[in-house]
Amino acid sequence: MAPNKKLLVLPGDGIGPEVMREAGRIVGWLSRRRGISFDISEDLVGGASIDVHGVPIRDEVIAQAREADAVLFGAVGGPKWAGVGFDVRPEVAILRLRQELGLFANLRPAIVLDPLIDSSTLKADIVRGLDIMIVRETVGGIYFGEPRGIEDMPDGGRRGVNTEIYTTFEIERVARVAFDLARKREGRVCSVEKSNVMESGLLWRQVVTELQAREYRDVQLSHMLADNCAMQLVRNPRQFDVIVTGNLFGDMLSDLSAMLTGSLGMLPSATLGTRDAQGRRPALYEPIHGSAPDIAGTGQANPLAQILSLAMLLRYSFSMDAEADLIERACTNVLASGLRTADIMSAGKAKVGTGVMGEAVLREL
Ligand code: NAI
Ligand code: MG
Repeated sequence: MAPNKKLLVLPGDGIGPEVMREAGRIVGWLSRRRGISFDISEDLVGGASIDVHGVPIRDEVIAQAREADAVLFGAVGGPKWAGVGFDVRPEVAILRLRQELGLFANLRPAIVLDPLIDSSTLKADIVRGLDIMIVRETVGGIYFGEPRGIEDMPDGGRRGVNTEIYTTFEIERVARVAFDLARKREGRVCSVEKSNVMESGLLWRQVVTELQAREYRDVQLSHMLADNCAMQLVRNPRQFDVIVTGNLFGDMLSDLSAMLTGSLGMLPSATLGTRDAQGRRPALYEPIHGSAPDIAGTGQANPLAQILSLAMLLRYSFSMDAEADLIERACTNVLASGLRTADIMSAGKAKVGTGVMGEAVLREL
């Protein structure tokens, strides 16, 4: 018998536990109806952990995350913990998890579901059927390079310094994630940097080109400068399949592409680490939205981003593509039937809360 899938569930703060409850019902369906045995543990992170344990995440939770086959994360943070200090604030929980599990590749899909075509600020004709995946390098680049800092200068002024460094190893491992994804999709990767003005970008382009020639001849590779990519994402986003890029450009381009689709409450993400000798890969799945303190406790939150994060988990950590497809299709069908949470509400639709939306997905399944 296959060993149980070890799942660590970390709901967090604000709407985190509210949307996680709905994802949990889908997990229940997976075990009851699809015969998947999970070994689930749940723990506190963020402000919820500060309140009980005095720290945003305990070492034993980090250890559990290392042991797990996948982590399903909600969201952390809120005004209640605004004064606790920079190093112990709730957001440290997610930063520590990313660092300590070595989660270097952030996958951010931007998908426009047909029933929500009018949620985009772009014309329906431009975004209809949009399905792109941005792969962002998350542990290297200019956010971490040395030297860095603010220093005094002899002329009495000061200077702020950050440094972008990318090594062959770092570029190859994230490019591999993108190429592997492309093989399961339309087979196209667009690599994005600023090789015209940055040496780190020039090396990026060379390394990705060489890797494709060596190991991924079946994947079509193109290159684009980051500024042009921003333009192209708004002008004609459907030209892209998979985009792979560094930390800084990925930060901006993934937010830009998220907004091609409409609402924060719809968008899942995955962050992947390095496969070990047994083929196990640390991975964390979370909606891209935060803890939404403005609506927490009102039962209005859209649970679909959390449910779609679970679908990504099944697809990328457990290779359960059939189950992932079913869940994604159920979400689309529920929207097509006219149900809407407040964040995606439009004229003529039925406004529902978190629980009714989750229940509807379950019923559709
Ligand atoms: P946010 O994503 O929590 O909220 C932004 C706006 O979108 C709010 O008006 C909110 O009501 C709405 N929204 C977000 N998710 C929604 C959903 N599922 N359904 C309906 N409406 C939704 O971002 P904000 O307000 O900047 O941050 C709030 C807190 O969350 C902060 O403490 C921040 O640090 C934290 N945060 C945590 C993240 C994480 O845990 N990975 C990511 C982003 C923010
Ligand atoms: Mg961002």
